Amino acid sequence: MANKKFYITTPIYYPSSDLHIGHTYTTVAADALTRFKKQQGYDAYMLTGTDEHGQKIQKVAEKAGVSPKAYVDEVVGRIKILWKLMNIDYNQFIRTTDPEHVKTIQRIFKKLYDQGDIYKGRYEGWYCTPCESFWTETQAADGVCPDCGRPVEKASEEAYFFKMSKYADRLIDYIEKHPDFILPEARKNEMINNFIKPGLQDLCVSRTSFDWGVPVSFDLGHVVYVWIDALPNYVSALGYLNDKDQLMDKYWPADVHLVGKDIIRFHTIYWPIILMALDLPLPKHVYGHGWILLKGGKMSKSVGNVVDPVALAKKYNVDALRYHVLREMTYGADGVYNEDLLISHINSDLANDLGNLLSRTVAMTVKYFGGTLPAEKADGEFDDDLKKTAMQAVADYEKYMDAFDISRALEAVWQLIGRANKYIDETQPWMLGKDDSKRDRLSAVLYNLTECLRIVSVLVFAAMPVTGKRIADELCVPDDARTWESVQTFGGYPSDVTVTRHEPLFPRIDVKAEAKAKQKEQPQKQKKQSKKKEAQELPEGIITIDDFAKVKMRVATVLSCKKVEGTDKLLRFSLDFGDEKRQIISGIAEYYAPADLIGKNIVACINLKPRKMRGILSEGMILSAFDGQNLKVLTVDGDMTPGAAVE
Ligand code: MSP
Repeated sequence: MANKKFYITTPIYYPSSDLHIGHTYTTVAADALTRFKKQQGYDAYMLTGTDEHGQKIQKVAEKAGVSPKAYVDEVVGRIKILWKLMNIDYNQFIRTTDPEHVKTIQRIFKKLYDQGDIYKGRYEGWYCTPCESFWTETQAADGVCPDCGRPVEKASEEAYFFKMSKYADRLIDYIEKHPDFILPEARKNEMINNFIKPGLQDLCVSRTSFDWGVPVSFDLGHVVYVWIDALPNYVSALGYLNDKDQLMDKYWPADVHLVGKDIIRFHTIYWPIILMALDLPLPKHVYGHGWILLKGGKMSKSVGNVVDPVALAKKYNVDALRYHVLREMTYGADGVYNEDLLISHINSDLANDLGNLLSRTVAMTVKYFGGTLPAEKADGEFDDDLKKTAMQAVADYEKYMDAFDISRALEAVWQLIGRANKYIDETQPWMLGKDDSKRDRLSAVLYNLTECLRIVSVLVFAAMPVTGKRIADELCVPDDARTWESVQTFGGYPSDVTVTRHEPLFPRIDVKAEAKAKQKEQPQKQKKQSKKKEAQELPEGIITIDDFAKVKMRVATVLSCKKVEGTDKLLRFSLDFGDEKRQIISGIAEYYAPADLIGKNIVACINLKPRKMRGILSEGMILSAFDGQNLKVLTVDGDMTPGAAVE
């Protein structure tokens, strides 16, 4: 078993906005499965990352007034902080802007072109930028994307195409011969009947209307279509066709790609076909989970109903949040998020069922035996059923985790927790404690409870690593009794350890106090709304402080300044903002000799929509004072760090 491997991936996320609780679910699920496989003795490897190219990112970066790279760097930094906060123990974080990944994509594209799978043609059709998907006239019949319902744009450009249709029969054959390739199974029929059987069109795999992507190495006006850039991240991360550590032999094929239901199509049609064309084995499973929904439907920034996991993780316990999303999303189906449900999971499952079981067991062990149970263990009434339930929970948990059904696996653990709580009611240890002749029975009861908790600590570890460890620590479980092997039999808890009482695992959330706090927040919200109203009622020309704050200004050092050839007015500046460099074109050539400005610390607005002047991109505006005759560039008085905010 020790050498068995398990390679699991999450989708690589678009850093086009901050991630929400829905994205968090996939990554927490992958982390839980990885931890479980490691417990089982597998060499488990988890990959996550970001999908950073494409028209959508280019557009949001433009809107934010920054270069696409500067934009994604910033968001990726925040994503990594989120994963740290959620206690995600990934092995690799891949970015599609990594030079080694770019190398892989260029080499794959060239290989497929050389072998005749990719050819040059012209694309005429529809494109959904938010989904980065092509659609035919019939598919986008109403002018909207069939996936997300947002308007599609006409695309007409020279492009490369991938001969998907060539592989359609092989793909159907593969899917049919491997009934567990697409999970849950219902998705399999959807893919075959709705997408493959109606006929696969050749896929457009390059774009020329924007440039934020991997350039086609032999035709530089083209960038690779974002999905063809993204999907191979699963192998570029393992060093396929690049110079990274060579891990393909060790980990490929992937054991499972975890994906949301909206992108199963890409993972079970495009991706297997690319792999077939590259002569690589297909992943063992693609598991498509449902969405976390809110009252208004799917979470989306444009609808304004996103739930920020960072705020939740800071407000509640991280393990509780992990438990909540894992428990709530049942196999393949959608789940609903709302804070009341989260609080009810915390109060009922975690504080009440699990937390109380632990605190009662430890408290009684301390009270009746000074924390150390005697070595002799007597059996008796009610015990067989408890032991059976414990062993059943281990078996069920393993079965469901191996089938990626994490919610059911947790349900199996709570069966055991429920049974153990019932065992306390049945055996009434506080009554046994009153009678000296029943000390053996009392110690057996407490032993059985402690043993159940030891097993629970191993079973909850994957979903709630901190909690699993806390339970085992509180019970002073030695290392060799925290392993997967050790929970295959009942009775692994040693008798010579002493337990002491700790803080409750999960403090209860005071629902009434929460409701009061929410009520208090209401006036704040109203205040905000009335501020908005106030802004609407302002005299013409007057702005609020919030309006002013929209203009982002920063200090920059002039690295170079040159006249734009063929113009009298324009100067081209290269500016250092500390964490990035930018080019700005400014119409002030009549007032300055370019050399006079080099080295100066000037002030520039950085969130102005970038625009082209004489074909050259200008990413912001340099501020200057003008009295009708004289013009002077705004500089800062004395030394100042480049990039400092001007407020
Ligand atoms: N970049 C592509 C994936 C490329 S993989 C080679 C992408 N990115 S995404 O950021 O839009 O979505 C990433 C994942 O988050 C998808 O699996 C998507 O289904 C999932 N989710 C987005 N919203 C979600 C919910 N509300 N609930 C659950 N999962 C959700 O697609």
